[in-house]
Amino acid sequence: MPDDRETEREASNSRNRRSFLKAAVAGGLAAGAGPALAQDKATPAALAKSNPRNLPPRVPRWSKVLGDGVEAKPYGTPSKFEAHVVRRDVEWLTASRQSSVNFTPLADLDGIITPNGLCFERHHGGAAEINPADHRLMIHGLVDKPLLFTMEDLKRFPRTNRIHFLECAANSGMEWRGAQLNGCQFTHGMVHNVMYTGVMLKDVLNEAGLKPDARWLLVEGADSAGMNRSLPLEKALGDCMLAFKMNGEALRTEQGYPLRLVVPGWEGNLWVKWLRRIEAGDQPWLAREETSKYTDLLAHGRSRRFTFVMDAKSIVTGPAPEAPLRHKGRNVLTGLAWSGRGRITRVDVTLDGGRNWQEAGIDGLVLDRSLTRFYVDFDWQGQELLIQSRAHDETGYVQPTKAELRKVRGVNSVYHNNGIQTWLVRANGETENVEIS
Ligand code: MTE
Ligand code: CO
Repeated sequence: MPDDRETEREASNSRNRRSFLKAAVAGGLAAGAGPALAQDKATPAALAKSNPRNLPPRVPRWSKVLGDGVEAKPYGTPSKFEAHVVRRDVEWLTASRQSSVNFTPLADLDGIITPNGLCFERHHGGAAEINPADHRLMIHGLVDKPLLFTMEDLKRFPRTNRIHFLECAANSGMEWRGAQLNGCQFTHGMVHNVMYTGVMLKDVLNEAGLKPDARWLLVEGADSAGMNRSLPLEKALGDCMLAFKMNGEALRTEQGYPLRLVVPGWEGNLWVKWLRRIEAGDQPWLAREETSKYTDLLAHGRSRRFTFVMDAKSIVTGPAPEAPLRHKGRNVLTGLAWSGRGRITRVDVTLDGGRNWQEAGIDGLVLDRSLTRFYVDFDWQGQELLIQSRAHDETGYVQPTKAELRKVRGVNSVYHNNGIQTWLVRANGETENVEIS
Protein backbone atom coordinates (compact mmCIF):
# COMPACT_ATOMS: atom_id res chain seq x y z
CA MET A 1 0.00 0.00 0.00
CA PRO A 2 2.60 2.63 0.92
CA ASP A 3 4.32 1.88 -2.38
CA ASP A 4 1.15 2.59 -4.31
CA ARG A 5 0.73 5.85 -2.48
CA GLU A 6 4.29 6.86 -3.25
CA THR A 7 3.89 6.01 -6.92
CA GLU A 8 0.74 8.10 -6.96
CA ARG A 9 2.49 10.99 -5.27
CA GLU A 10 5.42 10.77 -7.66
CA ALA A 11 3.10 10.71 -10.68
CA SER A 12 1.23 13.74 -9.42
CA ASN A 13 4.50 15.50 -8.63
CA SER A 14 5.78 15.07 -12.15
CA ARG A 15 2.42 16.28 -13.50
CA ASN A 16 2.69 19.37 -11.32
CA ARG A 17 6.31 19.82 -12.32
CA ARG A 18 5.39 19.67 -16.00
CA SER A 19 2.65 22.27 -15.63
CA PHE A 20 4.87 24.44 -13.46
CA LEU A 21 7.70 24.26 -15.97
CA LYS A 22 5.28 25.30 -18.73
CA ALA A 23 4.12 28.24 -16.61
CA ALA A 24 7.70 29.17 -15.81
CA VAL A 25 8.73 29.12 -19.43
CA ALA A 26 5.66 31.10 -20.47
CA GLY A 27 6.19 33.71 -17.75
CA GLY A 28 9.96 33.81 -18.17
CA LEU A 29 10.47 32.82 -14.51
CA ALA A 30 13.71 31.47 -13.12
CA ALA A 31 13.55 28.14 -11.31
CA GLY A 32 12.74 28.56 -7.64
CA ALA A 33 10.62 31.67 -8.22
CA GLY A 34 6.84 31.46 -8.24
CA PRO A 35 4.70 28.98 -6.31
CA ALA A 36 6.36 26.17 -4.35
CA LEU A 37 6.46 22.89 -6.22
CA ALA A 38 4.08 20.23 -4.95
CA GLN A 39 7.06 17.93 -4.45
CA ASP A 40 8.31 20.12 -1.57
CA LYS A 41 5.59 18.50 0.51
CA ALA A 42 6.57 14.96 -0.42
CA THR A 43 8.00 12.63 2.21
CA PRO A 44 11.76 11.97 2.27
CA ALA A 45 11.08 8.42 1.10
CA ALA A 46 9.17 9.67 -1.93
CA LEU A 47 11.80 12.30 -2.62
CA ALA A 48 14.58 9.75 -2.51
CA LYS A 49 12.87 7.60 -5.13
CA SER A 50 14.49 7.70 -8.51
CA ASN A 51 12.57 9.19 -11.42
CA PRO A 52 13.50 7.60 -14.77
CA ARG A 53 13.00 10.99 -16.42
CA ASN A 54 16.14 12.22 -14.66
CA LEU A 55 18.34 9.29 -15.67
CA PRO A 56 20.89 9.15 -18.51
CA PRO A 57 20.67 9.60 -21.44
CA ARG A 58 17.95 12.13 -20.54
CA VAL A 59 19.06 15.52 -19.26
CA PRO A 60 17.50 16.17 -15.84
CA ARG A 61 15.65 19.36 -15.08
CA TRP A 62 18.35 20.65 -12.73
CA SER A 63 20.83 20.78 -15.62
CA LYS A 64 18.51 22.93 -17.71
CA VAL A 65 17.50 25.72 -15.37
CA LEU A 66 19.43 28.10 -13.15
CA GLY A 67 19.78 27.09 -9.51
CA ASP A 68 19.17 29.30 -6.48
CA GLY A 69 21.20 32.49 -6.29
CA VAL A 70 23.69 33.05 -3.50
CA GLU A 71 21.23 35.08 -1.45
CA ALA A 72 18.68 32.25 -1.19
CA LYS A 73 20.15 30.77 1.99
CA PRO A 74 22.18 33.20 4.14
CA TYR A 75 22.65 30.29 6.57
CA GLY A 76 22.93 26.95 4.78
CA THR A 77 20.72 23.97 5.41
CA PRO A 78 21.00 20.36 4.21
CA SER A 79 19.49 19.29 0.88
CA LYS A 80 15.77 18.53 1.14
CA PHE A 81 16.64 14.98 0.14
CA GLU A 82 18.30 14.68 3.56
CA ALA A 83 15.20 15.85 5.47
CA HIS A 84 14.95 12.50 7.28
CA VAL A 85 18.38 12.99 8.91
CA VAL A 86 17.20 14.53 12.18
CA ARG A 87 17.43 14.12 15.93
CA ARG A 88 14.57 12.02 17.26
CA ASP A 89 13.23 11.33 20.72
CA VAL A 90 11.40 8.45 22.37
CA GLU A 91 8.17 10.00 23.65
CA TRP A 92 7.46 7.59 26.50
CA LEU A 93 10.95 7.90 27.94
CA THR A 94 10.51 11.15 29.89
CA ALA A 95 7.61 13.02 31.49
CA SER A 96 8.09 16.32 29.66
CA ARG A 97 9.81 17.74 26.59
CA GLN A 98 11.81 20.16 28.79
CA SER A 99 13.35 17.40 30.85
CA SER A 100 14.11 15.07 28.01
CA VAL A 101 16.59 13.84 25.47
CA ASN A 102 16.76 13.41 21.72
CA PHE A 103 19.28 11.29 19.87
CA THR A 104 22.02 11.78 17.26
CA PRO A 105 21.11 10.02 13.97
CA LEU A 106 24.31 7.93 13.97
CA ALA A 107 23.35 5.72 11.02
CA ASP A 108 23.26 8.70 8.64
CA LEU A 109 26.62 10.17 9.64
CA ASP A 110 30.16 9.33 8.62
CA GLY A 111 33.65 10.38 9.63
CA ILE A 112 34.07 11.48 13.24
CA ILE A 113 32.56 14.98 13.51
CA THR A 114 28.92 15.42 14.48
CA PRO A 115 27.31 18.34 12.61
CA ASN A 116 26.05 20.99 15.04
CA GLY A 117 22.39 20.65 14.09
CA LEU A 118 22.47 16.90 14.75
CA CYS A 119 24.14 16.77 18.18
CA PHE A 120 21.81 15.02 20.62
CA GLU A 121 20.35 17.27 23.33
CA ARG A 122 19.77 16.47 26.98
CA HIS A 123 18.08 19.07 29.16
CA HIS A 124 16.76 19.01 32.70
CA GLY A 125 14.86 22.29 32.41
CA GLY A 126 14.67 23.11 28.69
CA ALA A 127 17.24 25.01 26.62
CA ALA A 128 17.92 28.46 28.10
CA GLU A 129 18.04 31.34 25.58
CA ILE A 130 20.78 33.62 26.92
CA ASN A 131 21.89 37.01 25.67
CA PRO A 132 25.70 36.75 25.84
CA ALA A 133 25.92 40.43 26.77
CA ASP A 134 24.01 39.61 29.97
CA HIS A 135 25.83 36.38 30.79
CA ARG A 136 28.36 36.30 33.62
CA LEU A 137 30.56 33.56 35.06
CA MET A 138 31.14 33.87 38.79
CA ILE A 139 34.10 32.21 40.53
CA HIS A 140 34.02 32.23 44.32
CA GLY A 141 34.37 30.07 47.46
CA LEU A 142 37.87 29.00 48.48
CA VAL A 143 39.63 31.52 46.23
CA ASP A 144 41.83 34.53 46.98
CA LYS A 145 39.79 36.88 44.79
CA PRO A 146 36.14 36.18 43.85
CA LEU A 147 35.62 37.21 40.22
CA LEU A 148 32.79 37.89 37.78
CA PHE A 149 33.66 37.43 34.10
CA THR A 150 31.87 38.67 30.99
CA MET A 151 32.07 36.58 27.82
CA GLU A 152 34.52 39.13 26.40
CA ASP A 153 36.76 38.76 29.50
CA LEU A 154 36.87 34.99 29.00
CA LYS A 155 37.76 35.27 25.32
CA ARG A 156 40.96 37.16 26.26
CA PHE A 157 42.51 34.09 27.92
CA PRO A 158 44.81 31.96 25.70
CA ARG A 159 42.59 29.94 23.36
CA THR A 160 42.63 26.24 22.56
CA ASN A 161 40.86 23.81 20.17
CA ARG A 162 40.10 20.15 21.05
CA ILE A 163 37.95 17.46 19.50
CA HIS A 164 36.18 15.33 22.12
CA PHE A 165 33.17 13.07 22.40
CA LEU A 166 30.44 13.83 24.91
CA GLU A 167 28.45 10.78 25.99
CA CYS A 168 25.52 10.92 28.40
CA ALA A 169 25.99 8.40 31.22
CA ALA A 170 22.48 7.15 30.33
CA ASN A 171 23.44 6.24 26.74
CA SER A 172 22.31 2.60 26.17
CA GLY A 173 20.65 2.82 29.60
CA MET A 174 17.41 1.29 28.34
CA GLU A 175 19.23 -1.89 27.30
CA TRP A 176 20.28 -3.23 30.73
CA ARG A 177 17.49 -5.83 30.90
CA GLY A 178 17.70 -6.90 27.26
CA ALA A 179 17.36 -5.59 23.72
CA GLN A 180 14.82 -2.80 23.80
CA LEU A 181 15.08 -0.04 21.20
CA ASN A 182 15.34 -0.85 17.52
CA GLY A 183 17.86 1.59 16.09
CA CYS A 184 21.42 2.70 16.83
CA GLN A 185 20.05 6.26 17.05
CA PHE A 186 18.16 5.18 20.17
CA THR A 187 20.52 2.57 21.64
CA HIS A 188 23.71 4.64 21.19
CA GLY A 189 22.72 8.14 19.99
CA MET A 190 23.41 10.02 23.23
CA VAL A 191 26.90 10.80 21.99
CA HIS A 192 28.35 13.58 19.86
CA ASN A 193 31.83 14.63 18.83
CA VAL A 194 32.73 18.19 17.96
CA MET A 195 35.73 20.52 17.97
CA TYR A 196 35.48 22.90 20.90
CA THR A 197 37.14 26.29 20.94
CA GLY A 198 37.58 27.88 24.32
CA VAL A 199 40.00 28.54 27.14
CA MET A 200 41.52 26.23 29.73
CA LEU A 201 39.58 26.23 33.00
CA LYS A 202 42.87 26.20 34.94
CA ASP A 203 43.90 29.58 33.48
CA VAL A 204 40.65 31.18 34.61
CA LEU A 205 40.85 29.54 38.06
CA ASN A 206 44.42 30.77 38.49
CA GLU A 207 43.21 34.32 37.93
CA ALA A 208 40.97 33.94 41.02
CA GLY A 209 43.74 32.09 42.92
CA LEU A 210 42.74 28.84 44.65
CA LYS A 211 43.17 28.54 48.43
CA PRO A 212 45.38 25.58 49.55
CA ASP A 213 42.42 23.65 51.02
CA ALA A 214 40.35 23.76 47.79
CA ARG A 215 39.71 20.18 46.56
CA TRP A 216 36.42 20.28 44.63
CA LEU A 217 34.47 22.70 42.44
CA LEU A 218 30.72 23.12 42.20
CA VAL A 219 29.85 23.88 38.57
CA GLU A 220 26.38 25.28 37.91
CA GLY A 221 24.26 26.21 34.89
CA ALA A 222 22.02 29.24 34.33
CA ASP A 223 19.12 27.18 32.96
CA SER A 224 15.86 26.82 34.91
CA ALA A 225 17.23 23.54 36.33
CA GLY A 226 20.27 25.38 37.72
CA MET A 227 21.95 22.06 37.06
CA ASN A 228 25.02 21.54 39.22
CA ARG A 229 27.71 18.95 39.83
CA SER A 230 30.83 18.53 41.97
CA LEU A 231 34.03 18.29 39.95
CA PRO A 232 37.33 17.12 41.51
CA LEU A 233 39.86 19.97 41.38
CA GLU A 234 42.54 17.72 39.89
CA LYS A 235 40.41 17.17 36.77
CA ALA A 236 39.48 20.87 36.61
CA LEU A 237 43.17 21.86 36.65
CA GLY A 238 43.96 19.21 34.04
CA ASP A 239 42.18 19.22 30.69
CA CYS A 240 38.82 20.92 31.37
CA MET A 241 37.84 23.78 29.09
CA LEU A 242 35.37 26.63 29.08
CA ALA A 243 34.07 26.43 25.50
CA PHE A 244 32.22 29.05 23.48
CA LYS A 245 32.48 27.55 20.00
CA MET A 246 31.67 24.14 18.51
CA ASN A 247 32.88 23.15 15.05
CA GLY A 248 34.03 26.71 14.51
CA GLU A 249 30.78 28.56 15.17
CA ALA A 250 29.12 29.69 18.39
CA LEU A 251 27.71 26.91 20.59
CA ARG A 252 24.12 26.10 19.68
CA THR A 253 21.53 27.29 22.22
CA GLU A 254 20.75 23.68 23.09
CA GLN A 255 24.44 22.91 23.65
CA GLY A 256 24.81 25.69 26.26
CA TYR A 257 25.25 29.00 24.41
CA PRO A 258 27.14 31.10 25.25
CA LEU A 259 29.37 28.99 27.57
CA ARG A 260 29.71 25.32 28.47
CA LEU A 261 32.13 23.23 30.47
CA VAL A 262 34.10 20.56 28.57
CA VAL A 263 35.21 17.61 30.74
CA PRO A 264 37.05 15.28 28.31
CA GLY A 265 36.29 11.56 28.71
CA TRP A 266 33.91 12.05 31.67
CA GLU A 267 30.15 11.53 31.74
CA GLY A 268 28.09 14.12 29.87
CA ASN A 269 26.23 15.26 32.97
CA LEU A 270 29.39 17.02 34.21
CA TRP A 271 29.63 19.10 31.03
CA VAL A 272 27.48 21.90 32.49
CA LYS A 273 25.80 24.04 29.84
CA TRP A 274 24.99 27.76 30.19
CA LEU A 275 27.76 27.76 32.85
CA ARG A 276 27.25 30.65 35.29
CA ARG A 277 28.95 29.72 38.57
CA ILE A 278 32.01 27.88 39.88
CA GLU A 279 32.47 27.58 43.62
CA ALA A 280 35.67 26.14 45.12
CA GLY A 281 35.23 23.97 48.22
CA ASP A 282 37.00 21.28 50.24
CA GLN A 283 34.47 18.46 49.63
CA PRO A 284 31.80 17.42 47.13
CA TRP A 285 28.36 19.02 47.45
CA LEU A 286 26.37 15.79 46.95
CA ALA A 287 23.96 17.56 44.62
CA ARG A 288 20.82 15.89 43.24
CA GLU A 289 22.63 14.87 40.04
CA GLU A 290 25.27 12.90 41.97
CA THR A 291 23.06 11.22 44.58
CA SER A 292 19.52 10.51 43.42
CA LYS A 293 20.67 10.52 39.75
CA TYR A 294 23.89 9.58 37.97
CA THR A 295 24.81 6.92 40.53
CA ASP A 296 24.98 3.21 39.64
CA LEU A 297 22.49 1.04 41.49
CA LEU A 298 24.23 -2.34 41.86
CA ALA A 299 22.75 -5.84 42.13
CA HIS A 300 22.90 -5.88 45.97
CA GLY A 301 20.87 -2.66 46.15
CA ARG A 302 23.67 -0.28 47.11
CA SER A 303 24.63 2.58 44.83
CA ARG A 304 28.04 3.46 43.51
CA ARG A 305 28.66 7.18 43.17
CA PHE A 306 31.05 9.25 41.09
CA THR A 307 31.54 6.97 38.09
CA PHE A 308 33.10 9.78 36.13
CA VAL A 309 34.94 8.12 33.23
CA MET A 310 33.14 6.75 30.18
CA ASP A 311 34.79 3.41 29.43
CA ALA A 312 35.57 2.19 25.91
CA LYS A 313 32.56 1.44 23.75
CA SER A 314 31.68 0.93 20.09
CA ILE A 315 28.68 0.55 17.83
CA VAL A 316 28.14 -0.61 14.27
CA THR A 317 26.11 2.17 12.62
CA GLY A 318 25.64 0.37 9.30
CA PRO A 319 24.25 -2.17 8.89
CA ALA A 320 21.86 -1.19 11.67
CA PRO A 321 18.08 -1.30 12.07
CA GLU A 322 17.87 2.08 10.29
CA ALA A 323 20.41 1.02 7.67
CA PRO A 324 19.45 -2.50 6.52
CA LEU A 325 21.44 -4.37 3.87
CA ARG A 326 19.95 -3.80 0.42
CA HIS A 327 22.55 -5.25 -1.88
CA LYS A 328 24.01 -8.71 -2.31
CA GLY A 329 27.74 -8.77 -2.94
CA ARG A 330 30.13 -6.04 -1.92
CA ASN A 331 29.11 -4.05 1.21
CA VAL A 332 30.74 -1.69 3.68
CA LEU A 333 30.22 -2.12 7.41
CA THR A 334 30.96 0.98 9.45
CA GLY A 335 30.84 2.15 13.03
CA LEU A 336 32.23 4.30 15.81
CA ALA A 337 34.47 3.54 18.79
CA TRP A 338 35.49 5.78 21.68
CA SER A 339 37.07 5.70 25.11
CA GLY A 340 37.10 8.15 27.99
CA ARG A 341 40.59 6.91 28.90
CA GLY A 342 42.47 7.83 25.74
CA ARG A 343 42.84 6.74 22.14
CA ILE A 344 41.20 3.76 20.48
CA THR A 345 43.91 1.30 19.46
CA ARG A 346 41.86 -1.45 17.79
CA VAL A 347 38.31 -2.43 16.90
CA ASP A 348 37.31 -6.07 16.28
CA VAL A 349 34.22 -6.99 14.32
CA THR A 350 32.38 -10.31 14.09
CA LEU A 351 29.71 -11.20 11.54
CA ASP A 352 28.82 -14.57 13.09
CA GLY A 353 28.00 -13.74 16.70
CA GLY A 354 31.54 -13.96 18.03
CA ARG A 355 32.79 -17.23 16.49
CA ASN A 356 35.24 -15.38 14.26
CA TRP A 357 36.61 -11.89 14.84
CA GLN A 358 38.51 -9.69 12.40
CA GLU A 359 40.28 -6.40 12.95
CA ALA A 360 38.39 -3.47 11.45
CA GLY A 361 40.19 -0.79 9.46
CA ILE A 362 40.36 2.51 11.29
CA ASP A 363 40.18 5.53 9.03
CA GLY A 364 40.62 9.25 9.62
CA LEU A 365 41.86 10.92 12.78
CA VAL A 366 42.52 8.79 15.86
CA LEU A 367 42.37 11.29 18.70
CA ASP A 368 42.45 11.18 22.48
CA ARG A 369 38.88 10.76 23.82
CA SER A 370 37.26 11.32 20.45
CA LEU A 371 34.94 9.24 18.30
CA THR A 372 37.00 7.02 15.97
CA ARG A 373 35.63 5.66 12.68
CA PHE A 374 36.05 2.05 11.56
CA TYR A 375 35.13 0.08 8.44
CA VAL A 376 35.02 -3.55 7.29
CA ASP A 377 34.50 -4.36 3.61
CA PHE A 378 32.57 -7.61 3.30
CA ASP A 379 30.70 -9.79 0.87
CA TRP A 380 27.07 -10.61 1.65
CA GLN A 381 25.17 -13.39 -0.11
CA GLY A 382 21.94 -13.16 1.87
CA GLN A 383 23.05 -15.26 4.86
CA GLU A 384 21.90 -14.28 8.37
CA LEU A 385 24.52 -12.27 10.25
CA LEU A 386 25.06 -11.56 13.93
CA ILE A 387 27.17 -8.42 13.94
CA GLN A 388 29.14 -7.10 16.90
CA SER A 389 32.03 -4.69 17.41
CA ARG A 390 34.53 -4.61 20.28
CA ALA A 391 36.71 -1.59 21.11
CA HIS A 392 40.20 -1.61 22.66
CA ASP A 393 41.81 1.51 24.11
CA GLU A 394 45.37 2.55 24.83
CA THR A 395 45.15 1.47 28.48
CA GLY A 396 44.65 -2.14 27.28
CA TYR A 397 40.96 -2.10 28.27
CA VAL A 398 38.67 -4.21 26.08
CA GLN A 399 34.96 -3.44 25.76
CA PRO A 400 33.02 -6.09 27.76
CA THR A 401 30.08 -8.22 26.67
CA LYS A 402 26.71 -7.37 28.19
CA ALA A 403 26.85 -10.64 30.16
CA GLU A 404 30.26 -9.71 31.65
CA LEU A 405 28.93 -6.28 32.58
CA ARG A 406 25.77 -7.66 34.21
CA LYS A 407 27.89 -10.02 36.34
CA VAL A 408 29.47 -7.00 38.01
CA ARG A 409 26.67 -4.48 37.78
CA GLY A 410 23.40 -6.46 37.87
CA VAL A 411 20.49 -5.07 35.83
CA ASN A 412 19.15 -2.32 38.13
CA SER A 413 21.40 0.33 36.70
CA VAL A 414 20.62 2.98 34.11
CA TYR A 415 24.04 4.47 33.60
CA HIS A 416 27.39 3.43 32.09
CA ASN A 417 26.25 0.57 29.89
CA ASN A 418 29.16 0.02 27.50
CA GLY A 419 28.41 -3.64 26.69
CA ILE A 420 28.87 -5.06 23.20
CA GLN A 421 25.82 -4.51 20.95
CA THR A 422 24.48 -7.23 18.63
CA TRP A 423 22.59 -6.66 15.36
CA LEU A 424 20.83 -9.54 13.64
CA VAL A 425 20.76 -9.16 9.85
CA ARG A 426 18.02 -11.34 8.34
CA ALA A 427 18.10 -12.98 4.93
CA ASN A 428 16.11 -10.06 3.47
CA GLY A 429 18.64 -7.58 4.88
CA GLU A 430 16.34 -6.20 7.61
CA THR A 431 18.37 -5.60 10.78
CA GLU A 432 17.27 -5.93 14.39
CA ASN A 433 18.49 -5.25 17.92
CA VAL A 434 19.02 -8.66 19.61
CA GLU A 435 21.08 -10.28 22.33
CA ILE A 436 22.98 -13.54 22.18
CA SER A 437 22.59 -15.53 25.38
N1 MTE B 1 23.85 21.49 31.89
C1 MTE B 1 22.77 22.18 32.29
N2 MTE B 1 22.92 23.42 32.73
N3 MTE B 1 21.52 21.63 32.26
C2 MTE B 1 21.32 20.33 31.81
O1 MTE B 1 20.19 19.88 31.79
N4 MTE B 1 22.40 18.25 31.00
C3 MTE B 1 23.63 17.46 31.17
C4 MTE B 1 24.83 18.21 30.61
N5 MTE B 1 24.85 19.57 31.03
C5 MTE B 1 22.47 19.58 31.40
C6 MTE B 1 23.72 20.22 31.44
C7 MTE B 1 23.58 16.13 30.59
S1 MTE B 1 22.83 14.91 31.49
C8 MTE B 1 24.26 15.84 29.44
S2 MTE B 1 24.36 14.25 28.87
C9 MTE B 1 24.89 16.88 28.63
O2 MTE B 1 24.76 18.19 29.21
C10 MTE B 1 24.25 16.89 27.25
O3 MTE B 1 24.85 17.83 26.42
P1 MTE B 1 24.20 18.17 25.02
O4 MTE B 1 22.79 18.64 25.23
O5 MTE B 1 25.09 19.16 24.37
O6 MTE B 1 24.19 16.88 24.23
CO1 CO C 1 23.38 13.07 30.43
